[in-house]
Formats: sequence, C-alpha cells, structure tokens
Amino acid sequence: MLTSLMALAAILLTTLVFLQWRMANPPAAEPVALVIPTVAKDTNFVNLWTAPSDWRLSRLAPQEQELVRYGRELIAHTADYLGPKGSVAHISNGMNCQNCHLNAGTQPWGNNYGAVQATYPKFRERSGTVENQVKRVNDCIQRSLNGCGLTPQATKCGGF
Ligand code: HEC
Repeated sequence: MLTSLMALAAILLTTLVFLQWRMANPPAAEPVALVIPTVAKDTNFVNLWTAPSDWRLSRLAPQEQELVRYGRELIAHTADYLGPKGSVAHISNGMNCQNCHLNAGTQPWGNNYGAVQATYPKFRERSGTVENQVKRVNDCIQRSLNGCGLTPQATKCGGF
C-alpha cells in the first residue's frame, strides 16, 4: 500500500516538475515559410523600344538638338503651327500628330515612331511603291490631317 502511494506521489511530482519546466521552456514555434509576393512581369512591356531620353540630346550638335525639339513640338502641337489658325502655315485640320501617335510618337504600343528610321524606305501596298520617310509623313498629313504635303527641304519635314 505504502509503496503504491509513494509511486503515485513520484508520478505526480514528476508531472508537476515537467509541467513547470514546459511552461518556462515553451516549444519553439514552427518556422513560418517566408512568402514573398511577386507580381508577374507585364510581358507587353518587356524588351520594348523606348525613346531616347532627353539627356542624350546633348550628344547632338546644337542645330540637330533644335531640330529634334522642333519636331517634338510639331508632333505634339501640330495644329498650333500648321492648323487652320497655325502660326507657321495653314495646311492642315485641327488635329495633332500626337492625337494618334501618343506622347509625341514615343509611347510603347501607342503608334510610336520607333521603327520608322530603321524600316523606311519600304514598300507600301497602298501606293504600290517604295516610300521614304518624307512620303510617309506626308501621307499622314494628307490623309489624317487633311492637309497638303511638305517639301522634303522644309525644316518642318526634318523636324517630323
Ligand atoms: C488620325 C490619326 C493619325 C494622325 C493625326 C496622324 N497619324 Fe501617322 N499614322 C496613323 C496610322 C493609323 C498609321 C499606321 C500605323 C501602322 O501602320 O501600324 C500612321 C503611320 C505613320 C507613320 C509610319 C509609321 C511606321 O512605323 O510605319 C509615320 C511616319 C506617321 N504616321 C507620321 C505622322 C505625322 C508626322 C503626323 C502628323 C503630321 C501623323 N502621322 C498624324 C494615324 C495618324
């Protein structure tokens, strides 16, 4: 009888000691897997042509810089220069090239001019002939802006 009581007390004591030790040393929390949220790349905008940044203008001769700036102006605000009340000439309607060629023709997927210099002169089915850049610009002036063409020598043409 005494032996079993002592055994019971021993078991109780051991349990108490263990519980106290457990409270003082709680089991380490399971490591939580580190989840880094990722956003899938928009593949529509990977490896696309982007327009040269403005600082690259400084590599050009002053005259060429002027021409680039003038061209950007003409494309963005065509009507101010060539429209019905244009300051340079009245040869087109009130549209700007930028209405269709976004961000002065520099916007990815915005009908930009990224491939023009590299792909013209090229054959176009509409005219059935090989067209150069001047012809192509004039095509837009005549058809999109309902205007008359520029001569290749015109500074406006160089700008475009
Ligand atoms: C009403 C809309 C519209 C306006 C305004 C417009 N264009 Fe365009 N332009 C187009 C369309 C559409 C194309 C054909 C795009 C294609 O072939 O993918 C185009 C094509 C061109 C191209 C050839 C691009 C290439 O990669 O082959 C040039 C250069 C161009 N336009 C210049 C101009 C200039 C300069 C002006 C302003 C004087 C102008 N466009 C105004 C609609 C317009």
